[in-house]
Amino acid sequence: MSEARITLDPRVAVGPIHRNLFGGFVEHLGRHVYDGIYEPGHPEADAEGFRRDVIELVRELGVATIRYPGGNFVSGFRWEDSVGPRAERPRRLDLAWHSTETNEVGLHEFAGWLEKVGSEMMLALNLGTRGTLEALDLLEYTNIAGGTELSDRRAAHGRSEPFNVRMWCLGNEMDGPWQLGHRSADDYGKIASQTAKAMRQVDPDLQLVVCGSSSAHMPTFGEWERVVLHHAYDDVDYISCHAYYEPTDGDVDSFLASAVDMDGFIETVVNTADHVAAVRGSSKRINISFDEWNVWYQSRFANVDKIEGTDNWPIAPRLLEDVYSVMDAVVFGNLMISLLKHADRVTSASLAQLVNVIAPIMTEPGGPAWRQTTFFPFSLTSRLARGTALQLVVEAPTYSTARYGEVPLVDAVATHDAEAGESAVFLVNRSQTEELEVTVDVSRLGDVAVREVHAIFDEDPHAANTLENTERVAPKGNDTAAVAGGALTITLPPVSWTAVGLS
Ligand code: AHR
Repeated sequence: MSEARITLDPRVAVGPIHRNLFGGFVEHLGRHVYDGIYEPGHPEADAEGFRRDVIELVRELGVATIRYPGGNFVSGFRWEDSVGPRAERPRRLDLAWHSTETNEVGLHEFAGWLEKVGSEMMLALNLGTRGTLEALDLLEYTNIAGGTELSDRRAAHGRSEPFNVRMWCLGNEMDGPWQLGHRSADDYGKIASQTAKAMRQVDPDLQLVVCGSSSAHMPTFGEWERVVLHHAYDDVDYISCHAYYEPTDGDVDSFLASAVDMDGFIETVVNTADHVAAVRGSSKRINISFDEWNVWYQSRFANVDKIEGTDNWPIAPRLLEDVYSVMDAVVFGNLMISLLKHADRVTSASLAQLVNVIAPIMTEPGGPAWRQTTFFPFSLTSRLARGTALQLVVEAPTYSTARYGEVPLVDAVATHDAEAGESAVFLVNRSQTEELEVTVDVSRLGDVAVREVHAIFDEDPHAANTLENTERVAPKGNDTAAVAGGALTITLPPVSWTAVGLS
């Protein structure tokens, strides 16, 4: 059996872990909202038509902020359609997903749902087909207490208190040619800067996210960030990153190393932002909002899901309903490790998405709601990763990948909550065949013991939870985990993700 050694020192910190790192994302897309979180006829529906079983699962997942209402959807969205008496709300073509948007669920209903799940709204603005004025209008509607046309309109629509939205995305994936209103970095940087400045005239303390690249593999990656920040550096707090992973051409070894790509993506964007700061002589630091990340089988979307036809605009079609395997959950858990390893600069992130659409939670109309395999690494990391992320020294054997060259078989991060006297170690074994014995030097944590262990692995790495078998995969324990003589030892099964809680 191969071995790996890890050294951990609570004094060697990456940075504090912001709760917003455990954010989610709800887009008006497919069956996410309609027949997902909202299904008035369902036996579990509450008085507002929201499914109570889904609310419970979202609460269990432990999601801080939730980005809304898109995604690509937002670039054609008119927020005014989504407020006021439901019977008067228009139906619109959703060009992004070739669907019909009924606007039955809008801003007020979604804010009510957020209160039920205990999460905070992060709003995305349409800077694709709209501009600064509409952004200001929405800000007035959501955040001004009263006494103006739009704030009074909100009150007339039943909400006298402002929504007081703190985090705003200045558009979505504006570097992508698929985006309605796609622009050059120069054009987008200017409108983002103008819009941010105008919004700050309303409230200087808003948290504003400018669009970075929709993937580290965009042809404009790097230059996009430099140019956009050249225009908007002083006006924004965050630059976004988006990344989705899938095995391409059956290359599972590279897929299992996806977090290597995420690590590089984050580090390049941090370096680019700091370069712009240096050129400007600015001591301000721009952080990253990794506001879309996940495993996503995009090839399935392109080949199976795509809706076409001038007369074909379905309501809530089944779109992007990926079924996640154990292996997907291991990669997913590793992406969370990557986010935590960069907790000093990635201070906000949103798992894309939450329900039915590339989601940890699935539902069937009139039927059950269940946890996909990816649910578990998210809920466990959100619960256990508290306090400070620690820098580890990881010495592990490597393996060859076609995409990323030689890659360590083990990836890991640790967290330490000094106040609670608790720590956690998150580990991934990327080997498809080999068990790995890992020894973590925890002597500097003092006298600690293993409190809990949760692992995702299976004899069949393709096992998944489905409508037919909603509980096929669940976290397992790992009896090999023990602390003795200042060392935590654990044997990691092939293709596994593990969280160890220490206290
Ligand atoms: O999450 C699905 C889509 O992926 C989002 O709408 C878009 O922003 C990204 O391309």
